[in-house]
Amino acid sequence: MPCPPDVISRLKEIVGVDKFSTGASNLSLHSKDESFHHAHLPDVVVWPENTEEVRDVVRLCYEKGIPVTPWGAGTSLEGNPIPVKGGVVIDLQKMDRILHIRENDLQTEVQAGVVFKDLNKKLARYGLFFPPDPGASATIGGMVANNASGIRAIKYGATKDLIQKMTVVLADGEIIHPGTLAFKSSSGLDLCRLFAGSEGILGIITEVTLRLVGIPPEFLSAVVSFSTAEAASLTVSQIIRSGLSPAALELMGTNAVRLINKYTEDFDFPESPLVFIEFHGTNKAGLSADLALVRELCEDNGATHFEAGIGRQARGKLWEARYNLHDFILREHPGLEPIAIDAAVPISKLPDIVAYSEKASAKRGIVGYVFGHAGSGNIHMPMMGNPSDEKSWGVLEEINREIVAFALSLGGTATGEHGVGIGKIPFMESEHGESLVLMRKIKKLLDPKGILNPGKMF
Ligand code: LAC
Ligand code: ZN
Repeated sequence: MPCPPDVISRLKEIVGVDKFSTGASNLSLHSKDESFHHAHLPDVVVWPENTEEVRDVVRLCYEKGIPVTPWGAGTSLEGNPIPVKGGVVIDLQKMDRILHIRENDLQTEVQAGVVFKDLNKKLARYGLFFPPDPGASATIGGMVANNASGIRAIKYGATKDLIQKMTVVLADGEIIHPGTLAFKSSSGLDLCRLFAGSEGILGIITEVTLRLVGIPPEFLSAVVSFSTAEAASLTVSQIIRSGLSPAALELMGTNAVRLINKYTEDFDFPESPLVFIEFHGTNKAGLSADLALVRELCEDNGATHFEAGIGRQARGKLWEARYNLHDFILREHPGLEPIAIDAAVPISKLPDIVAYSEKASAKRGIVGYVFGHAGSGNIHMPMMGNPSDEKSWGVLEEINREIVAFALSLGGTATGEHGVGIGKIPFMESEHGESLVLMRKIKKLLDPKGILNPGKMF
């Protein structure tokens, strides 16, 4: 049902004409994220500037039973913000103010539309940073709603581990402020953790107080080559189990390394699986001792090349290349779309899931780009195809299903960080069993009319 004219004119009054659009290009920009999932046009897009405006929009939609989908930067990979039932998209990108930086408490309070990269630029002046880094220029609201994590989660945790307090607009327009500014608390149910990762289906997060970390004075990086991805992932699992605390431990399979060599000018790695390792600390001597131990483990597992002592500039380029990998894959296959794999498993099972994924694609003659946050047992393996070609796309979906089923059989999860969105809905039952019933009850309790980001997660 399209938005009725009285709702349209009321929305215009709430946010103002200049923060409201029914124009074709704005609707189209809010119809699709970075996944392969089909585009769906909303009826209206609004850009509120504060929590009260969000409240008024949501309250109106609640009264009229109109779908509301919150929008961050649209960088999701599972269709998470696609307004599949139309209605109103609340784009939070104009809520981009850093409200407070409390450096002595290592906290910052921000509006949901702040882009984390911009936040980190500001925080650098205070010697602080917010560690989760999904690569894309995501907003903090999107990162919270999706529980984003990325390369540094292994040391600093995922987004939901770093939330002190938040402001949430509930489905009926009520505003709540769960959480505390204290470093720890045993008081009551942890609602921040309920809303983090809830993908906009329980409420709209408009402000967040985040826990920050001091920028480490020293770092040490290394790049290690192995002859097989299994040897690389076995080494990663052993590094973690040895009790070392790397800040990043990323795996790249041969296909991924090939693209980094092709699309960057700075690197010409041996065309075999690679591991990027980084340690953060207070002094070089301690980090060097850690790295010596890592080197020993790598050599015991047949590492073919070990390059350490990477300088600040090269390190920046290394991480840039790692983060551009997803784009390199898209560039390599123009006109095709990626199906993303995001399985995560207990660390001892990492070699199994890597070997399984490589085999699942290779045996069907499909190119899979294995890479991922190996140190936290989270792997990706984008495969490129044409979603409208049922037969060939069906093969990619079959591989996806097999990998998820295998991850679940190992005690893992269908999605380590991309979220459920549309793409992982089919796996919710097998992953959560009876807990899914409770999840549905919670959804019903918080959103009885089913207006918040409908068609997602369940
Ligand atoms: C990454 C995204 C795809 O790790 O999660 O680059
Ligand atoms: Zn990732």
